Amino acid sequence: MSDSSEAPQPDSDANAAGLSPTVRLREETADLHRQVEQSIDWSYYLRDAHRYAKFLRLISTFLPPADQKIDQLLGTPEPWFRDRRKGKWALEDLQLLTDQTESEVLHKIADSATSITGIGYQWVQSPQEAAGVLYVLEGSTMGAMHLCKSVSRNIPSAPVGYLAAYGDQTPSRWKTTKAWLDQFLVEPHHVSMAVHAAKQMFLFYREQLGGPS
Ligand code: HEM
Repeated sequence: MSDSSEAPQPDSDANAAGLSPTVRLREETADLHRQVEQSIDWSYYLRDAHRYAKFLRLISTFLPPADQKIDQLLGTPEPWFRDRRKGKWALEDLQLLTDQTESEVLHKIADSATSITGIGYQWVQSPQEAAGVLYVLEGSTMGAMHLCKSVSRNIPSAPVGYLAAYGDQTPSRWKTTKAWLDQFLVEPHHVSMAVHAAKQMFLFYREQLGGPS
């Protein structure tokens, strides 16, 4: 297991107090979570089919490369990991919503301002950093349950595979993921690396979806 070349932040008081890795992740990213919750105009994206398609297109653009990094750096054969929600699920929703084939949808995405291949996640170099990104993406399934209800209310026939995540299994899946992260991030120094990457991921997410809507 390789260490990141980035200098980790000094371990915080939270760690000194013996908090578990996922509690540290939650506490140290709580402000950023609040920011993505509040600064992204969710009511814009989830109001009608046209805007929901825009949301799905953005998700399909910037999340698949993160999934790739997680698979490369963190692959584990455990079932929760193998069948976890991927950015590609948003692409499948987009196909259904717009009645297009995958290649037509991908073609349009590649034409848009940011191309999929242009997003590299260079700040994710180690398994610990990939774990920080995984924390954000899997944790976001919890908030997605709320967003899914808005879509279904506003656009009753819309496909919601991505936002529905694991349906009523979502809270228990999240518990399983947290238990795994707590075992995986053994050293305080590794937790700091994961926290740093989780913060980057929140910021990146906000940058991608928080633009003028
Ligand atoms: C309006 C949008 C959102 C709402 C209403 C929301 C709400 C929530 C709620 C209710 C939880 C569960 C908290 C708990 O059980 O303790 C949660 C957890 C979480 N959400 Fe969000 N969320 C939203 C958007 C997002 C987004 C866009 C991301 C990622 C970019 C995200 C990342 C997380 C993470 C990582 C957790 C796990 C926190 C923990 O460690 O327990 N959320 N969210």
